[in-house]
Amino acid sequence: MNEPPIMVFDSGVGGLTVLREARVLMPDRRFIYVADDAAFPYGAWEEPALGKHIIGLFNGLIERFRPVLSIIACNTASTLVIDALRKVFPDETFVGTVPAIKPAAERTRSGIVSVLATPGTVKRQYTRDLIRQWATKCHVRLVGSDRLAALAETYMRDGFVDEEVVRAEISPCFVELEGRSTDIVVLACTHYPFLVNRMRKTAPWPVDWIDPAEAIARRALSLLPPSRQAAPARTEDCALFTSGKADFATRRLMHGFGLTAL
Ligand code: DGL
Repeated sequence: MNEPPIMVFDSGVGGLTVLREARVLMPDRRFIYVADDAAFPYGAWEEPALGKHIIGLFNGLIERFRPVLSIIACNTASTLVIDALRKVFPDETFVGTVPAIKPAAERTRSGIVSVLATPGTVKRQYTRDLIRQWATKCHVRLVGSDRLAALAETYMRDGFVDEEVVRAEISPCFVELEGRSTDIVVLACTHYPFLVNRMRKTAPWPVDWIDPAEAIARRALSLLPPSRQAAPARTEDCALFTSGKADFATRRLMHGFGLTAL
């Protein structure tokens, strides 16, 4: 009997940034990666429709994979449905991914931080509440990007990225105010760490880019019940694409991450 897997969920390939950290911390665990590519990008959805869609999808996913724990490796989904998922599936364990506003507020020296996210995450009450709770002493600039998640998808599949688009999308993050300037940018979409080197290259000045992936993986590890097997055998990790149409480039990418596309 296989151990129940850890499910890592995102709208596309962004959740792989979390999966790679989770693998480092939990090398003996089996993972199922789910990309809801049929509904990508989540950033453009209206809230009620997206909420309904994700809950419906989880009904089927939980039934099919019986995960020991589910990581919602998507800020756009977590900031909308993490509470609802816990309510609708009270026997399941969920780890969410929400903008790392608290660590940014603790670390900033200039007091000016930016949160780079999808338009959906920027609009969420959840995100506003995080700022009110943790960052009232900071100047927080919320920057919603229409293009970066799709750009990261193309980059990971085809290896190409238009740096001028990256430059334009990140430029609103850079704020100068009364002689101080932004010193932290929170990467509040799991796709963005794939582009961080291009962001560094096109940024007007150096900043700290906060990628929460390791913290999410640590949280998952802390909630995981002990493995049922003394020395669990490593079985194959799989990836499911809700479109059912993972093309050659996608399969190759999954293979690079040690995942077999179902
Ligand atoms: N990776 C997702 C996130 O963390 C968003 C990408 C999308 O717009 O679907 O927010």
